[in-house]
Amino acid sequence: MHKMVEATAPGKVILFGEHAVVYGRPAIAAPVTRLRASAVIESSGDADVLLIAPDLGVRGRLSEAEPGDPLAATLHLSQSRLAIPKLGGFSLTVTSDIPIAGGLGSGAAISVAVIRAFLAYYDLAATTGRDQISALAYEVERLHHGTPSGIDNTVVAYEQMVYFKRQEPLDRIEVFSPPRPLRLAVGDTGLRSATRDVVGDVRSQWLGDRTRFEQIFDACGQIAEAGRGAIAAGDLAAVGRLMNENHEWLVEMTVSNPRLDQLVEAARRAGALGAKLSGAGRGGNMIALIEAETQATVTEALLAAGAVRVWVSDVG
Ligand code: MEV
Repeated sequence: MHKMVEATAPGKVILFGEHAVVYGRPAIAAPVTRLRASAVIESSGDADVLLIAPDLGVRGRLSEAEPGDPLAATLHLSQSRLAIPKLGGFSLTVTSDIPIAGGLGSGAAISVAVIRAFLAYYDLAATTGRDQISALAYEVERLHHGTPSGIDNTVVAYEQMVYFKRQEPLDRIEVFSPPRPLRLAVGDTGLRSATRDVVGDVRSQWLGDRTRFEQIFDACGQIAEAGRGAIAAGDLAAVGRLMNENHEWLVEMTVSNPRLDQLVEAARRAGALGAKLSGAGRGGNMIALIEAETQATVTEALLAAGAVRVWVSDVG
């Protein structure tokens, strides 16, 4: 019987606490629902699985995939965790409008979309919770970027604003929402940087000066706590101020760069309530908190300051 299923998953932004979250401090992330990854699984007469992902430059057979190929890894993990006896007889096509290595969670979104499609294909979607989907996506994240905190797969799988703290035995995951959605301008530097490398570099710096980095992480954690309160109270001025403060700590960690700083400055000057880099940094995207009245001026200012693309997105 011919079968075809499609599943999608959103991108994400980190509102507060990137990097510090890897070291057990709380952080806040939100889904960007208009940027999505999509996975289509379609039955075929072939005993193998055909992998097609034009954005990742992938087209080939699962049996011949390179070790570490992210799509192959996601399928093999899903197969083993869900006790599917044999993989074959379908094609998997992945597309995404989330820029890769841009700090917007493209990796986690692709994993979650593939896992959701896989579940739908094997009629397991109704019996698999978002926590299980997130846990599977976390295992894939671990293959790619060493020591992920788990915040990306969580926010992408839950598709809600989330307060996240990495801890044993279970991470603290609390979904919450602002009284009114926050409006963000997301500005793309056009520079790409691998999360794994930036996270690894922060780790080397932390190993070199633990006292200082623990203090920086503490400050970011406190900002995330205060940020959660400000978001829940709808205090946009405070949210913006805390975003600015968080950016300064990210500069201290050396994960910002001149292009990000330029965009952050331009957004603030054009009337944004606050702005910061979002995600791993050293490229990728920044976010600015805006309102309807400042949307046009901030967008124009970001483009004039060199952003290659600007999305406006309501989160929460
Ligand atoms: C990436 O979106 C956020 C980082 O904190 C890495 C992680 O939490 O795994 C930079």
